[in-house]
Amino acid sequence: MGEFAVHGGDFFGAIGIRLDELEKRHDVVNADVLDAWYGPSPRALSAVREHLDWLIRTSPPTHAEGLRQVVAECRSVSEAEVLLGPGSSHLIFLLIPRLFGGKRVVLLDPTYGEYAHLLGQHGATIERFDLNGPEFRPSVPDLIEFCQQHEGLILVNPNSPTGVALTLAEVQTLVSSLPTNYPIWIDETYIDYCGEGQSAEPLVQAHPNLVVCKSMSKFYALSGLRVGYVVAAPDLVRTVEPEIAPWSVGLLAQLAAAEALRDTEYYEARRAETATLRAELEATLTEAGFEITPSTANFIMFRVESAEAMVAEAEKRNIFLRNCDSLSPRFKDDYVRVAVKGEPFLGRLKLFFSSR
Ligand SMILES: Cc1ncc(COP(=O)(O)O)c(C=O)c1O
Repeated sequence: MGEFAVHGGDFFGAIGIRLDELEKRHDVVNADVLDAWYGPSPRALSAVREHLDWLIRTSPPTHAEGLRQVVAECRSVSEAEVLLGPGSSHLIFLLIPRLFGGKRVVLLDPTYGEYAHLLGQHGATIERFDLNGPEFRPSVPDLIEFCQQHEGLILVNPNSPTGVALTLAEVQTLVSSLPTNYPIWIDETYIDYCGEGQSAEPLVQAHPNLVVCKSMSKFYALSGLRVGYVVAAPDLVRTVEPEIAPWSVGLLAQLAAAEALRDTEYYEARRAETATLRAELEATLTEAGFEITPSTANFIMFRVESAEAMVAEAEKRNIFLRNCDSLSPRFKDDYVRVAVKGEPFLGRLKLFFSSR
């Protein structure tokens, strides 16, 4: 196999990668990946169940044209600004080389590892903007000054693995302070956990140099279906859409995503519950003596004596955690990330951490 960026997902080792022992999943706490602890919208589920056989055997609308309309309606952007793909990863792989290849590109450190991996493969130089614990919060004026010395910015907001978010007002200041031809990519995979109205999608209209990357995997609980989109200037969308293969977004994914986008009430409730569960897990970690980074998302990063030892210890109990080493060259076996879970997995996580 070639070289890939490091990701969570080791839990599949315990479930079985051939997917022929799926009942094991009930015992495996997969807190190394950041999938939602809740299920997708009941509206999405019942539509999928009702038409399942037909959905599986039918070719979807070629370029997800209908879903594109729904995204535009639900997210208050224009259809011409929306580009759909089979997961945001597909769009990241399509667009990052085009927008940032060969440039000196600013990345927060730590951050999601796929960007450094891709930039490295496409002749870009990574300019790391160091964040420091326990807050790991970027100073916006310092970040602007740093960006001005380089040629592009990739910002994961809220950031992973820290869970720290800039507000929309801060993002607006940042975007407005950079030249109109300065490429800016904002990955908002976890933004919906921060509350309504925090997305930078509406800024694209006034800032054609901005691309907002929207995974539908996590907040909408659709990871297994693979659907995501970007909001970008219509010129960019028109140029790159012929590079997306027909029928890329499956029919199950198109239907479930459209229903999920319309079901704001259901997801609002899950967001509030996630905040409560996160607070419970934060309290357990703090009581157990760990230094946590205050998070706005569905995961928490905390400092440990040995990440490797903790991950191995948890694995013996079928609990999977993420060693953060691959997310910053400055991390040296000292940070772990855990996904927020509902019961019964939350109870197992609390028990594990409180016995440390
Ligand atoms: C910050 C970030 N961006 C993008 C992705 C890719 O998500 P997907 O391809 O499922 O849309 C992930 C997945 O973990 C992520 O954490």
